[in-house]
Amino acid sequence: MNQHTLSTTTRLLHWLVGLTMLSLIMVGFYMVNLEAWALYPIHKALGVLALLLILPRAIYRVKRGLPKPVAEMSVTMQKLSHGAHWLLLLGTLLMPISGMLYSGFGGYGIDIFGLILVHENIVNDEVVAINELIFVIAKNAHSLIGYALSALIVAHIGAAIKHHAIDKDETLRRMLGKA
Ligand code: HEM
Ligand code: HEM
Repeated sequence: MNQHTLSTTTRLLHWLVGLTMLSLIMVGFYMVNLEAWALYPIHKALGVLALLLILPRAIYRVKRGLPKPVAEMSVTMQKLSHGAHWLLLLGTLLMPISGMLYSGFGGYGIDIFGLILVHENIVNDEVVAINELIFVIAKNAHSLIGYALSALIVAHIGAAIKHHAIDKDETLRRMLGKA
């Protein structure tokens, strides 16, 4: 493996986590705006399961650091790109964690297709929060981080396209395993 090649683990985890995040963000906004209640349990279950990919990837990154850029870049651009990549990674952790705190402490419960992780808290036929403060903070965090992360992902994809189409360097091809 030369210095520029990315390992299969890096590429596989990038695309698996990336596609999972994009799908869950789209489903999240869709179900909230169209009140598609049937999608809630699916979104929640897949969101929890996503941690099985997200956690090993975050640990791998913290241990190994980010890959070195393939293209020549100014120090400022390098810092910006590193900052953005760490924020993307942080976003992949904060979304499922805030979602779980939101549903768990809100009393809505969490299950993975029938396997109950946290029971619903129903009193007199109504869902009652287990901890109102954590519920409200986590609910707002899930929404706000969702918006901020979406904007960052748009910029991230824009940067990948710019590297490929304008700078004509190997950045995108390397993540696709072609360089
Ligand atoms: C990678 C993981 C996840 C991503 C990217 C994600 C993304 C989103 C997004 C973008 C929304 C729409 C927010 C809004 O319009 O205010 C949303 C809503 C929601 N998410 Fe997630 N989510 C994830 C994991 C989870 C998990 C693990 C749970 C719970 C166990 C969860 C529970 C919810 C609920 C209940 C809503 C509806 C919020 C409402 O009605 O106001 N999410 N999610
Ligand atoms: C179509 C969508 C996407 C494209 C085309 C894309 C493209 C790329 C490329 C080309 C790199 C390599 C950058 C370099 O060499 O410095 C990269 C790295 C990275 N991307 Fe994406 N990406 C996409 C989606 C996402 C999403 C949704 C996330 C997370 C929410 C994400 C998180 C990251 C992170 C953390 C890195 C740093 C390297 C790593 O940890 O694997 N990407 N991306």
